[in-house]
Amino acid sequence: MSGITLVPVSLGERSYNVAVGSGAISLTSTMIPAGVKRIAVVTQEGVPDSFIPQFVDHDVFVAKIGVGEAFKSLLTIQQLCSEFASYGLTRSDCVVAVGGGMVTDVAGFAAASYHRGIAVVHVATSLLAMIDAAVGGKTGVNIPEGKNLVGAFWQPSGVVCDLDALNTLPTREMNCGLGEMAKYHFIAREELNTLPFAERVARCIGIKGEIVAADEREGGIRAFLNYGHTLAHALEIETDFAIAHGEAVSLGLLFAAHLAHRMGRITSQRVDEHYHVVHDVYSLHLPLPSGLTIEEIIRAMARDKKAVNSLTFVLDSAQGLEVVTGVTEHDITDAFQDLKSRLQQI
Ligand code: GLY
Repeated sequence: MSGITLVPVSLGERSYNVAVGSGAISLTSTMIPAGVKRIAVVTQEGVPDSFIPQFVDHDVFVAKIGVGEAFKSLLTIQQLCSEFASYGLTRSDCVVAVGGGMVTDVAGFAAASYHRGIAVVHVATSLLAMIDAAVGGKTGVNIPEGKNLVGAFWQPSGVVCDLDALNTLPTREMNCGLGEMAKYHFIAREELNTLPFAERVARCIGIKGEIVAADEREGGIRAFLNYGHTLAHALEIETDFAIAHGEAVSLGLLFAAHLAHRMGRITSQRVDEHYHVVHDVYSLHLPLPSGLTIEEIIRAMARDKKAVNSLTFVLDSAQGLEVVTGVTEHDITDAFQDLKSRLQQI
């Protein structure tokens, strides 16, 4: 792939493109809807100035949100909306979110809420935001009772994924993106590792775009995008976010493989394929956080917002991923022990 690829997300009148490639930042102004006069750029300390797009035809105001999960809060939404109002942002203006997944989640929710919804363009500067958070319209913040428990589906007018931003991304953040990238191998059942990296990023976005177009509000197959996430969310919460999201997803994928195997859904060879993708393709050799008991993990899983009446997982099978309800604590405990033992052997 050379140049910039436009990956479509087809949602009727709310369809948009995701621009992927080196130098894609130059396309940001083409994604601003007609009629917008003022732009509120929402970003964060640590995002390089070179990825704040320049706008010559608009008045621009820059707001920064705090760094760290504690700032992914309703208080931050209130502060942002106050800043928008003081600046004079109107219903026909636009928010441009520049940063990683936290920035696109928070700025997207502020845009969804301000004046009951104004346009937003996401400029994703982390791999995780590019292949997941910035695409598909999920926005939201945490409350003490749960992660991403308050939010809205609010599709952007466009998304920019300038791959040059990855050149300076800290290793840990890059690994978080690779954890999410690993999940697409099992969602699409494609040999994604045969693609050059830029094409692989575009393909992951394409897979997500196709799923979102088919099931925007997660009534069905969109849940597959949560593959590996049930354990991952529990690990994040129980470690007070010391383990980062994509790191936790890499462990969650391995756990989901063991659980599917315990339940007779997949072969041990398929479990090995999960280890191959996570450990060999993406070099994500994360240990399980120490000191956590399976009882604490099961309690945290049961509080997860996607668990309705029983423990629910996205699990692999010979036919592909499926949403499985009513998973027993016995199988979960055994699968967790399988994961622990195998990680100790490696
Ligand atoms: N991150 C999962 C989704 O967008 O549905």
